Amino acid sequence: MEYNFNFKGKSVLITGAASGIGLEAAKAYLSCGADVYMSDYNEEAVTEKARELFLQYSDSVVVAVAADNTKEEDIEKIASAVKENTGRIDILVNNAGMSHSAYSINESRADWGKVIDLNLTSQFFMSQKIANEFMIPAKSGKIINTCSLGGILGIPSAAAYSASKGGVMQITKSLSCEWARFGITVNAVCPGFVETPLIKNEMANEKWMAYMTKRTPMRRLAKPEDVAGAMLFFASDMASYITGTSLVIDGGFSAGS
Ligand SMILES: NC(=O)c1ccc[n+]([C@@H]2O[C@H](COP(=O)([O-])OP(=O)(O)OC[C@H]3O[C@@H](n4cnc5c(N)ncnc54)[C@H](O)[C@@H]3O)[C@@H](O)[C@H]2O)c1
Repeated sequence: MEYNFNFKGKSVLITGAASGIGLEAAKAYLSCGADVYMSDYNEEAVTEKARELFLQYSDSVVVAVAADNTKEEDIEKIASAVKENTGRIDILVNNAGMSHSAYSINESRADWGKVIDLNLTSQFFMSQKIANEFMIPAKSGKIINTCSLGGILGIPSAAAYSASKGGVMQITKSLSCEWARFGITVNAVCPGFVETPLIKNEMANEKWMAYMTKRTPMRRLAKPEDVAGAMLFFASDMASYITGTSLVIDGGFSAGS
């Protein structure tokens, strides 16, 4: 896909950038001229992907940061890496996340806590750090959170995941109200099912794929580029007056029954 935006001179931080939607977002912003920080807790993968992308987009700064978003010291490490390089973050894409499935009658507190910690709490504290260090002093910034259709619909056997993503929609609204005065917009993307390693087990199930394809008006799952396009739009000048909103990207799945 060709991404037609201009982000020359902008620095973008993308979390969970070693795979799937985050990796595609990194390619998309780079193809539009941005400098990109790719963070991920999978050090080997993020280092390798950043190296590949730098070879392709050598006019841009591409920095890999190995960081676990659930650890305060790792969030600090990301901020330090930014200070050592371009010294600014104009766009934050809070993307790192995990899936988790369990019957609610069997759910454990430990697993519940892990999902909320990564999918919801880390998006909040990453936003807090980047806003305090870079966006509020610059009086400008764009934050894009990654929600899910699971934050809107109740997904059976995924109460923790749905709760975490429903929470992301709510922090998106709260932060947008608080930080508008600093010139920061905060929006979220809500993808349906996207062809990434996150749902590899589901995609390997032919019956599931056949049902989902038929159930989706556009007759296919989303591709990472379908989501990356919206991540670019929210960061662009065309979205200057849009804040606190969540955009559903699901091929029409939630539009009908
Ligand atoms: N794939 C889907 O169907 C789908 C649907 C809706 C929403 N989403 C959301 O999109 C986002 C990206 O998912 P994806 O489908 O690209 O998945 P993915 O598994 O391909 O990529 C997720 C990335 O996050 C990284 N990560 C995991 N835990 C981390 C941590 N603690 N710290 C830092 N990095 C960590 C992983 O190493 C991986 O590179 C997630 O927030 C997910 O909930 C995905």
